[in-house]
Amino acid sequence: MIVAGTTAWDTLLRVDELPGPDTAKRATTIVDAPGGCGANTAYALALLGHAPTLLTAVGNDFGTFGIQNRLEDAGVNLDHAYHAEDAPTARAVLTTDAHDRQTIAYHEGATPHMKNLTPVPAPIGHFAPGELTAYPPLMEACDVVTYDPGQETFYRPIEEVIAPIRHTDVLLVNEHEAKHIAEGHEGIEQLLDAVDTLIISDKNGQTIHTGGDTIRTDGVPANPVGLSGAGDAYNAGVLHGIANDWPIEDAARFGSVIAAFTIETYGAQEGLPTLEEAQRRYEDAYGTKPPST
Ligand SMILES: Nc1ncnc2c1ncn2[C@@H]1O[C@H](COP(=O)(O)OP(=O)(O)OP(=O)(O)O)[C@@H](O)[C@H]1O
Ligand SMILES: [Mg+2]
Repeated sequence: MIVAGTTAWDTLLRVDELPGPDTAKRATTIVDAPGGCGANTAYALALLGHAPTLLTAVGNDFGTFGIQNRLEDAGVNLDHAYHAEDAPTARAVLTTDAHDRQTIAYHEGATPHMKNLTPVPAPIGHFAPGELTAYPPLMEACDVVTYDPGQETFYRPIEEVIAPIRHTDVLLVNEHEAKHIAEGHEGIEQLLDAVDTLIISDKNGQTIHTGGDTIRTDGVPANPVGLSGAGDAYNAGVLHGIANDWPIEDAARFGSVIAAFTIETYGAQEGLPTLEEAQRRYEDAYGTKPPST
């Protein structure tokens, strides 16, 4: 399996109230944590027992963060990652207030260098937020393609967001992204024609459009501490199900299980479960065991 997307280093700050323009607020907590949508999903998959190849671009400071060892020790293959000499690794500063309102300042760093990646053939390819313009040829080398454009949906010209959809089997988006993409794609009907499966996630679960049917699945009750990485963890669970040929609704439920673990901790790659832990929580939440792996 390959996972394409960003690798980043996140600084997470907690404040009681977000600072307005030209003001400062004292942070009550500061945590440095590995992040990046591609790395988050690849790491979660590795903990579930997969050995994903991460297609990403990192900067000249990559060795200093300890991210590389952490990913490789977990079982993520970084052999195809692009190392840019003239840029830092992508970084984000995420500031969250007492009401879980968040501001994110993000520097893309080496990410545009994903254009230098060469296709790696794989049975499954997941495409997370990153240099979307690099994705179509990388997607062509994969048999099954899942795509989550995430926040890129709003930063980029809509054509860049939509171009990879032609190569996509399963499109994974939240409600806001779905609405924006459907508008740029001449409506939801046309979008549904373009992909086999469209999964729209929200706080309470997912709505799955597949083969002319619409299926609703419930999320997993969780006590949110930090929502960062919920979507990336969710995607790892869905990919685990797809890799094991599960019905898509079971894969979506497994995604909700993995997301529940990460949102109960601060940091996008913290709190992620092993396969056994995920299977147990699935059974607790849904009252049945997940399909066998
Ligand atoms: N408060 C919550 N409690 C339980 N599960 C949640 C909660 N918030 C999110 N999730 C789970 O995480 C999944 C993805 O969350 P969400 O819809 O917020 O995605 P997103 O907005 O794309 O997030 P991200 O910014 O991390 O990509 C949901 O489908 C759900 O399974
Ligand atoms: Mg998302």
